[in-house]
Amino acid sequence: MPLSDKHIQTKTYDDILNAGPPLDQLAKEFVTPKELFFVRNHSQIPHFQLESYRLRVRGMVTRELSLSLTEIKRDFERRELTATLQCAGNRREEMVDYKPIDDQLEWGIEAIGTAKWAGARLGDVLTAAGIRSEAAAHVAFLGLDKVLDGADNEAYGGSISLDKALACEVLLAYEMNGEDLPLAHGCPLRVVVPGYIGARSVKWLGEIRVQAEESANHFQQIGYKLFPPHISSDTVDYADGMPLTKLPVNSVIVRPQAGGALPAGAVLVEGYAMSDGEHEITWVSASADGGKTWQRADFMHEPQLWSWQLWRTEFTLSPGKHELVVRAWDSAANSQPETIASVWNFKGYVNNAWHRVPVTVE
Ligand code: MTE
Repeated sequence: MPLSDKHIQTKTYDDILNAGPPLDQLAKEFVTPKELFFVRNHSQIPHFQLESYRLRVRGMVTRELSLSLTEIKRDFERRELTATLQCAGNRREEMVDYKPIDDQLEWGIEAIGTAKWAGARLGDVLTAAGIRSEAAAHVAFLGLDKVLDGADNEAYGGSISLDKALACEVLLAYEMNGEDLPLAHGCPLRVVVPGYIGARSVKWLGEIRVQAEESANHFQQIGYKLFPPHISSDTVDYADGMPLTKLPVNSVIVRPQAGGALPAGAVLVEGYAMSDGEHEITWVSASADGGKTWQRADFMHEPQLWSWQLWRTEFTLSPGKHELVVRAWDSAANSQPETIASVWNFKGYVNNAWHRVPVTVE
């Protein structure tokens, strides 16, 4: 299915739609136009009738709910939040260049975007259902898309802690950038979990379940778990992995791109930086000599919780080869590791090593 002619970097496997913006369009604006917002799907976009759509709320609740979209819009206050969504696999390509990774999408730097989301607060819906038991600790989500076939016939799912689910930033969104949520982004309703890996923001949301344990879904128990660099697919014990939640601090050079030949003189370097959303980006440093010397980059706007920071800086470069590098810090003093080797993992998740872009100046 063509999503938009602007998404030229379409990455499909089988016939599943995955797409990102062309890099010359990435992170140009604080709010990403929907045509340029990356799409990450694990299966086909589900078929359903909007008229018969219901969100079911179950598990350790006082009242089970079955809500149509009209009821959600009517009965719960509409809340707006601008938030960045980033796939855990963003920047996997650099990890693959360092050491092979099997069966995962090789995202470059484009699996990220920022949208103005609007919808009901998940916390408001959970309050309406009532938390019935003190043992309730997790909130699990199920999409309407069937991801695994056969005996494992399972919908896409995952969970977050009850604490995070009750936080005011977590939305059940039915709008993106002031319009109805597009089908590719989870219409009619999706979870938006700001600050967490995109995988927890379940699209085409069919069910919410309050429970004592984490979701038993494949994408909580096998997918989207982090392991240290020495673990491989041969030695892995999935029970031992860390289910990914918050994103680590990261910064990326978007322009110029690697390998490009640039004219000597002033070179504008620009990109994005993002943390776990709760902590703002306080500092972005850029280097044009592989990290020997650094200069502070300028921010393009006031820091905003839950959203990326766009930045730029200028170097005067003489003819020859140069390595542009960027690193960032957030307000909790978190920063980025220098090498890919220290963050490589066999699934290729959360690469936040210093971002390096080799360029030639002529
Ligand atoms: N929800 C469902 N139902 N099915 C999916 O395949 N992919 C997840 C998440 N929610 C997915 C899903 C992943 S891995 C990411 S990164 C985000 O959706 C991507 O959201 P987007 O396609 O709107 O950018």
